[in-house]
Amino acid sequence: MKARLFIAVAAALLLAGQAPAPTVPDEAAIPAGPAGDAIRRGLAIFTDTRAAAPQHAGNQLRCANCHLDAGRTAGAAPLWAAYGNFPAFREKNGRMNSFEKRVQDCFIYSMNAAPPPMGGEVLLAVSAYAAWLAQGQRIGVSPPGRSFPAIAAPATPPDDTRGRALFAEHCASCHGETGQGLIEGATVVNPPLWGPNSYNWGAGMAQVDKAAPFIRANMPLGSGGSLSVQQAWDIAWFIDGQVRPQDPRFAGDPAATRTAHHNRPWSRYGTQVAGRILGDPTATPPHHTPAGHDF
Ligand code: HEC
Ligand code: HEC
Repeated sequence: MKARLFIAVAAALLLAGQAPAPTVPDEAAIPAGPAGDAIRRGLAIFTDTRAAAPQHAGNQLRCANCHLDAGRTAGAAPLWAAYGNFPAFREKNGRMNSFEKRVQDCFIYSMNAAPPPMGGEVLLAVSAYAAWLAQGQRIGVSPPGRSFPAIAAPATPPDDTRGRALFAEHCASCHGETGQGLIEGATVVNPPLWGPNSYNWGAGMAQVDKAAPFIRANMPLGSGGSLSVQQAWDIAWFIDGQVRPQDPRFAGDPAATRTAHHNRPWSRYGTQVAGRILGDPTATPPHHTPAGHDF
């Protein structure tokens, strides 16, 4: 009886797009000693990237802006669900990626930064924090709550005019009319969604089919799930049709870069939006990945 009830509850949660809450250790349980020091350092990098690893923050974001509640929130690409699933093959670079390489990629694209070196203390600390959060999770199994809850395809092709109006109604109060966020001195109260201080063109969030499920599950902050699926697509389409820093894999011109890295319907890079080519180098803020980096 009990087992049946559990299965029914779990199925209902899954249908509602919410994973059953896993047991993720509390911050107060971080151990003392060298292991605890590394975990705490990883937590600091994750939640206050610009202060804790300034040479690896190329914009006004922090890891936890997207991986909510310090990487704990199911349905916001939580760290505990990721750690045990690396090394893994990624289409993005066509090879096996270690966990450290996966983290480097969020520094390069989502943080628009020079990545911390392989084998260095920054990646070690982030790995220590992720491994600690993942304790008790099964290795090589994608648990419910990983990534963002999948949403249906849009019933109607997403549209900038609808997206702009929905953005003004549901998002601009926090993220600003021009997506610039709310920054008070050194404090980012609400992170920027586009412009020079946001994620660059190579980021997962720059793909409409990643942004839409994130937004649907998690935004407006505190009211995740309140937008319709179509609204989430329209807003994501609008946001990912704005100007943002260059793709670090820039191949000389937007058309060649699109062919090499954005050749899919849910990337608007290299296409014309509101009279301009997205990724046009004369109108696109810079990326900060050093030349010659091996992607
Ligand atoms: C109540 C204020 C608030 C509202 C309204 C809101 N957000 Fe957010 N949003 C935030 C905050 C704060 C974060 C960062 C969360 C954190 O660091 O814990 C965030 C993070 C994000 C991120 C990831 C970080 C980034 O800058 O790219 C995206 C994308 C996003 N919001 C999109 C939206 C969209 C789209 C809407 C409207 C549907 C929206 N938000 C409405 C406060 C808000
Ligand atoms: C602008 C939003 C954003 C920021 C900022 C960001 N990430 Fe991510 N991250 C993503 C997206 C989107 C994915 C892909 C999720 C998916 O495909 O399921 C991702 C994936 C990951 C993954 C793999 C998750 C998995 O389940 O495979 C890790 C690990 C990760 N990020 C770590 C970080 C770290 C560390 C930072 C800070 C240095 C960071 N991220 C900053 C958006 C962001």
